[in-house]
Amino acid sequence: MTIHSASSPGGNLPAPRSALDANDVRTAYRRWAGVYDTTFGGISASGRRATVQVINGLPGRRVLEAGVGTGLALPMYSSGKRVVGIDLSADMLERARTRVREGRIATVEALREMDAEATDFADGEFDIAVAMFVASVVPNPLRLLAEMRRVVRPGGYLLFVNHFAAERGLRWWFERTIAPASRALGWHPDFKFAALFTQEELAISERRPMPPFGLFTLVRLPR
Ligand SMILES: C[S@@+](CC[C@H](N)C(=O)[O-])C[C@H]1O[C@@H](n2cnc3c(N)ncnc32)[C@H](O)[C@@H]1O
Repeated sequence: MTIHSASSPGGNLPAPRSALDANDVRTAYRRWAGVYDTTFGGISASGRRATVQVINGLPGRRVLEAGVGTGLALPMYSSGKRVVGIDLSADMLERARTRVREGRIATVEALREMDAEATDFADGEFDIAVAMFVASVVPNPLRLLAEMRRVVRPGGYLLFVNHFAAERGLRWWFERTIAPASRALGWHPDFKFAALFTQEELAISERRPMPPFGLFTLVRLPR
């Protein structure tokens, strides 16, 4: 098992106040693993499919999927890609491994239990890194972004698809109301763009609302 401490790359970044630590993530996803595909996996299906379609259209072969979970996206990569999936949760990964084995998915190079905030990959060894529905779950999203940037070569791409908190209205109120349950939920309902990206990064990013009802947003950043 490869779990690094916060002293690895990105370790000097400020840690935003977080209700989750690595053990909370493992505990939450131990509970979720058995029902994930039929619950959240279903709601997020079209956003995941659209994101992998974007990736399949990008140049470059090696893809890092950070927080690969049960591997729902793995069958969707085109034959020209080679995917390495990592996750903190052994329970989620076990399901991803079964999916790859039973589906004989040749595009998957490796599935590893590893912290996406501090990996053991070399600088620039991937063309693309993607985190689907992960940024609001990791203990420190800024470290996730820094680490994804480190392992992607200059000229490559970073992609995030996530729920970002509404700025006003009924959804804003609802997300704020359920935010104290972050630890039990295993994610932050009130996660904002600003928790992950600077204004400069947002200015050079491409953003696209994702179904259902624009609840998720795909953000693509050049490396
Ligand atoms: C909501 S699930 C998303 C799974 C998958 N990306 C999908 O599209 O279904 C979030 C996943 O992120 C993983 N995760 C959370 N923090 C992590 C970290 N620091 N490093 C690696 N994986 C992490 C969780 O274990 C969980 O499997």
